[in-house]
Parts: sequence; C-alpha cells; structure tokens
Amino acid sequence: MLHNPKSLRPQRDPVVDRLLAEIRGLDEASVQRSMLPAGCYTEPAFFEFEQKEVFARTWICVGRVEELPEPGDVMPAEVAGEPMIIARADDGQIRALSAVCQHRGQIIPCEKAKGRRNFRCPLHFWTYDLQGRLVGAPRMGDAAAMRSLREAVALPQARVEIWHGFIFVNLDPEAPPVAEGFAKLEPFWDGYRDAGLVPVPPSMGSTPLPWNWKTHVENFTDAYHPEYVHRGTHDFAPSTHPDGDVVFTPMRQGDNAIVRSVPMIRPDGGMMLDGWGEPAMFPAIETLAPEQRKRLTFALMPPSMTLVFAPGAVAYTLIRPVAALGTLAANDRVTGGGWLLPQSTLDLPDFAERAATVLKGASKIWAQDLPVNLSMQAGKNSRFLPDGIYGPLEVTLQQFNFWLFRAYTRAG
Ligand code: FES
Ligand SMILES: [Fe+2]
Repeated sequence: MLHNPKSLRPQRDPVVDRLLAEIRGLDEASVQRSMLPAGCYTEPAFFEFEQKEVFARTWICVGRVEELPEPGDVMPAEVAGEPMIIARADDGQIRALSAVCQHRGQIIPCEKAKGRRNFRCPLHFWTYDLQGRLVGAPRMGDAAAMRSLREAVALPQARVEIWHGFIFVNLDPEAPPVAEGFAKLEPFWDGYRDAGLVPVPPSMGSTPLPWNWKTHVENFTDAYHPEYVHRGTHDFAPSTHPDGDVVFTPMRQGDNAIVRSVPMIRPDGGMMLDGWGEPAMFPAIETLAPEQRKRLTFALMPPSMTLVFAPGAVAYTLIRPVAALGTLAANDRVTGGGWLLPQSTLDLPDFAERAATVLKGASKIWAQDLPVNLSMQAGKNSRFLPDGIYGPLEVTLQQFNFWLFRAYTRAG
C-alpha cells in the first residue's frame, strides 16, 4: 500500500500552520456561517498540504470499469499527485499500481492501451507484470539473485473499490469503504440501475483552469447563482418553484457527497441547445419513477467528481486539482462525454448530432460560469474579502465547508 506515514508528516510550511490554526479555532457551527480563510484557495503550500494529507486519504475517481474491460487493458491516472497505472490483470482484478519504478524511482510512462503484458521502466529496463510484480531486471546478477529480487520488489499498490462502475482509488489503507461515504446517493440510483446504462467517458481537459479546485466545485454546487448567472440556460431548472423548491440532503459525519435536487418546470427536460430545457436531446429513461423525471439532482463528491442525475442520463465530470490555481476538468461542458446512457439512446440514428447539441448547450452554461469563477478566485486576493454570508439557497456551500473543515482538522 502507498500510504507512507513519513510523507504525511512533512516539515510544515508556516503558511499552512497559520491557516490550520485559524481553521482549528473555528467549530462546525462557525464554518457553516462563514467562508474558510482565503489562503486555503490561493496558497501553493496549502495546496501541497491538501494533496498530501487530504486527497491522499480520500477516494478519488479515476474512470469507469468499462474503460478496462479485458485483461491487459491499462490507463494512467494521477491520485493525490501520485502517478499511477490502473490495470486489469489476468486474474480479472483492476489494480492501482504506483508508476514509480522500485529500482531508483524513474516514473514508468503509461498511456491508455489494450493488450499490455507488462510495464518496462525506460531507465534500466526493469519490467513489471500487470499485477505490479517484478519480472525482469537486466544485469542484476545470476538466477538466484534475480529470484530474490523478484521476491522483494513490486510496484506499490493503492486500494481500489468499484462504486456503480466507477473506479475509486485511495492511498490510505485505513479509509472507510467508498460506499459508506456515498450512501446518501443510493436512493438516487433507483431506476437507473435497471436501465443498463452504458458510459460515454469524457476526456480530461489538457489546460488547467486558472482557479482553485474549491472555486470550481463551489460553482457546481451553488443553487443560488443559476437564476442570475445562467439566465436563458437554467431557467428550466430553477431553485425555487411553486410546486417545490430545491431540496438539500442532510450532511452527516462521514458523508463524502453533497447533494441538491432541483425541480424542472416540466417533466423529462434535459440538456438541449440552450442548456437545460425541452425537448431533451437524451430521451427520458423509462425505468425511472415519475418523481425522478421531474428533477435534476446534483452531487458533489469532493475532490474528484461530480454527478448529475437527469431524466435522460447520469452525467459525470472528473476533476483533478493540479495546483493552488490549477484545476483540470474532464467535463461534459468542455470536452463532451461523461454520460451514462441507455443503449436505446446510443442507438438513435442521430445520436452524434444529439451529443453535439448537448455539448453546445452545456458550453453556453460554461461560458457563463467562466467569468464568475475567475472573478470569485480573484476576490480571494482582496483585503476587503468578507467572511461571507450564507442564505437559504446556499446550504450546499455550508455543507462543503463542513466537509473541508473535517478533512483539514483530521489531517492537521
Ligand atoms: S529506475 Fe527503473 S529500471 Fe532503473
Ligand atoms: Fe454555474
């Protein structure tokens, strides 16, 4: 396992100590009343702290099982800053192997591929099998020396758990099972489970977005801003409605999902050319209950994933924080894909056009979010930044603060 207590207690930067002291001076009630210190969103040292001590103890989504259907299928991933290889071996198991060669630490390159039998380090050609075991090391001595080397050396592995077909990796061997933290999402899978959904994976954006990962996901989870920022693209799914407003699920200790469900003004809406609206490009899934066809449910699963349960699809994004001011996103609003769809939708003769239209509609929403994200991030540098005031539509922001507070104080 990768969890290395040494790496979890580095010499800590005084900036991080100051921020953690400030956070420790708060309590669960006060973090739900005000924003966390701005430095948590801007300081490179604090980002390093998050990587090493928060993300390394959190379940990180790296993709879907369908992306690795056969033994020999492999793909790269990065988990809490660690380069990893996700591989399905001959025993059918999916593993998360460290890509750091156990000879002298060269990073073993890996691209998404099929039919791989092994991984060879480019520096001295040490070779590992799909389970991470050393199988070859040239010029390292006679057969007996090789045998003992093979017994002693393997690529370290991290924990892998599968949740509804999503591959989650955790560097912490002590972390509670992935499903525990996402238990509150189970009821939302009703009806989708029986629909035989097939993934259309997204591709990760190649340019980091110039803001902190928390700025990114706060925009996703904010039920207050759509009415103002997303005029013309989100009016079909308002946070307030005469037949029932946005519903927030309660946040309990150990929860790793922050969930809100918003009404649509008519059932069976979804993404279309102008954002959320009708007719939806992905037809409603027949196995869903009528109540599910009237709402969109948004789930934030920090730090690596978001889900939207819509009548026609489950849409997901993958997020990879890479710097204090750098966030990579694989996202239906930027790169397309990130959908779980019934086969009947994929078989529609005009599916490609429908998918392109969804991307256009989602891009309009994205174009509205871009300037406000830049601006929210810029505000963190101001001496006049307020502590923040949360209104009734900002419960998910308070819940996210609660999640961060727990993660930071547990790690600190
Ligand atoms: S560092 Fe990998 S073979 Fe030497
Ligand atoms: Fe938004």
